[in-house]
Amino acid sequence: MTKLDRRLPPPPFKIKVVEPIKIIPQKERKLSLEAAGYNIFNVASENVYIDLLTDSGTSAMSDFQWAGLLQGDEAYAQCKNFFHLEKVIKEITGYKYVIPTHQGRSAENLICFAYNLNNAKMAVSNQFFDTTKANIETTGAKTLDLVIHEAYDTSLVLDFKGNLDTNALKNTIEKYENIALIVLTITNNTGGGQPVSMKNIAEVSKIAKSNNIPFILDAARFAENAYFIKLREKGYGEKTPRAIAREMFSYADGCMVSAKKDGLVNIGGFIALNDENMFNKIKERMVIIEGFPTYGGLAGRDLEAMARGLEEVLSEDYLEYRYNQLQYLGNSLAEFGIPVLQPIGGHSVNLDALKFLPHIPQSQFPAWALVNTLYERYGIRAVELGSVMFARKENNIWIYPKLELVRLAIPRRVYSQEHLNYVIDSIVDLYQHGSEISGYEITYDPGVLRHFNARFKPIVK
Ligand SMILES: Cc1ncc(COP(=O)(O)O)c(C=O)c1O
Repeated sequence: MTKLDRRLPPPPFKIKVVEPIKIIPQKERKLSLEAAGYNIFNVASENVYIDLLTDSGTSAMSDFQWAGLLQGDEAYAQCKNFFHLEKVIKEITGYKYVIPTHQGRSAENLICFAYNLNNAKMAVSNQFFDTTKANIETTGAKTLDLVIHEAYDTSLVLDFKGNLDTNALKNTIEKYENIALIVLTITNNTGGGQPVSMKNIAEVSKIAKSNNIPFILDAARFAENAYFIKLREKGYGEKTPRAIAREMFSYADGCMVSAKKDGLVNIGGFIALNDENMFNKIKERMVIIEGFPTYGGLAGRDLEAMARGLEEVLSEDYLEYRYNQLQYLGNSLAEFGIPVLQPIGGHSVNLDALKFLPHIPQSQFPAWALVNTLYERYGIRAVELGSVMFARKENNIWIYPKLELVRLAIPRRVYSQEHLNYVIDSIVDLYQHGSEISGYEITYDPGVLRHFNARFKPIVK
């Protein structure tokens, strides 16, 4: 075992309820993976020891949020929890209209509908998250990622690696007339949870306004982004995360939010915006796909938990703890020589699989292989952000993504430093045995969002 002498400051909470976890024997994990078609999404969570598959919907709620569940008003229309949620979101974002949705991708779907995306249109982002991309592309519209090129250099340390390349944006607008939507993903999940600076948000806003293109924030991790701005951007050190968040939102026409991240809830999302016509259009559509516009596919109690979570997430104590936890995990791994995406992001530490397993070509899915080995050997579940998720076929040729990452997403308020130490020791151990790992081939490819349902078999050397 490696020895870690770093210490984290104590978390700003204590534990009131515990959920037992246990590590099953390695041979059972091997069988479980095989039965799952070597797809970690199909492994029963009971068979996972430390689950870093996602930070989405996996937060531990506070006693205040749990208490809120008992105050759920389950009236079909106009329940009191909606008005609480609406007030909280209006105060945080400054937008006039609020529409709850059951999660982020449904908000994306409604935004695509409202802005009339179709096969003659194009949407541009720093980097689209996979569900956003899928929602846009299923309308027939094209998507284009314009994150700064430095984002693709995993060892480069830069304060705001999630920024959108504004020159590329101007050139794209000049070249194509059909851009129907600009989206900034804050923080940039696909690029490793890297933040976007206030300066960049303001510049994108200016370009969008002068070209009359709607500008929407995909703000699942708005509080984490605000905290990075506080720490790293000149002029924001003395401001509260709440004030910074409010300024971020002020530059856009609206936001679509998966509240399963910085809403600190297990389910929930919302849209907030200023345009009354769009609001009405979305409300009409809502009734068909999500339910009455004041409940958005959620129970009254879920709305209450979300309202309370959105308040709690902006606490500076919480954000400092969260930041430190991520830095601890990422920097400890880096100190042991593990290739991690630099700098450490807001919700995840990302292993660079191309450097971790240089002997496996992208056509054999190195990040996928690393995810599976992490589970089989140590019971840790991570997720691939690489060729399974992002490779695409053009003219019968596979185009592979520039990054091949294994994301260790850290659920909020869930794991202790001891858990993180176990993860660090496991990865350091695995790094010493990387050459034993082999690649995979796909045996079933479902097409859209294939990582969720694809099946695989190991390539026997
Ligand atoms: C940036 C971003 N946008 C949208 C989504 C989709 O949200 P949901 O999973 O709530 O549908 C996610 C989920 O991980 C995300 O990270």
